[in-house]
Amino acid sequence: MTEMTEKQARILAAAEEYAREELRHEGSGHDWRHVERVRNLARTIAREEGADLYICELAALLHDLADAKIAGDEATGQRRVRDWLMTHEVEPSVIERVMEIIATMSFAGGNRPPMTTLEGRVVQDADRLDAIGAVGVARTFAYGGSRGRLLYDPDITPQQHTSAEAYHASDAPTINHFYEKLLLLKERMNTPYARRLAEGRHAWMEAFLAEFYAEWDGER
Ligand code: ADP
Ligand code: NI
Repeated sequence: MTEMTEKQARILAAAEEYAREELRHEGSGHDWRHVERVRNLARTIAREEGADLYICELAALLHDLADAKIAGDEATGQRRVRDWLMTHEVEPSVIERVMEIIATMSFAGGNRPPMTTLEGRVVQDADRLDAIGAVGVARTFAYGGSRGRLLYDPDITPQQHTSAEAYHASDAPTINHFYEKLLLLKERMNTPYARRLAEGRHAWMEAFLAEFYAEWDGER
């Protein structure tokens, strides 16, 4: 599908307004501008991959509104997003496709099965690209600050979490998050376009970490 119908354009505009409003005061790196970047990346990747633009954009716009970090818990968040889609008379088949993406795209420790649809792979890549590189580093320290985490503690070593619960319950220093998630994402990109961007962003994060440790030790 290349052209949006008028109804689809109207629904995307409403979803944008909804995300803007809900995430206006979000202070942990999941604010409206994150959503906007994910939507733009998703659009670019969707074009490259020949994915359905409407589904990708709608899922990108709504993806963090159902997240437990924003909504309190996942079930409540998902119910709210579903209600919103129904209130806006989005077709039932579209609602199912979008909800499936939103419910399964989270990293959550990295043990989730692969996305089942092309549109899911596209939106997940877009969200993951925004987790790495310079923007990813900035967001990660913003998140850590919002939760009162230390920047770094050499005595607390990173862990590979085996469950989503353990991953989300972790109160480790922010630098550990690089090893628990950010540096793992390059190998997990779904699409060639995202993998290419991820390589540049990954190299930049490694340089950031090298500089961080050198300064920590007073070597530079
Ligand atoms: P997902 O929604 O894919 O499970 P996360 O919950 O891991 O993603 O978080 C999204 C972003 O929030 C991360 O990329 C990171 O920037 C920040 N974040 C999440 N958990 C942490 C953490 N423990 N420490 C620092 N930043 C975090
Ligand atoms: Ni996100």
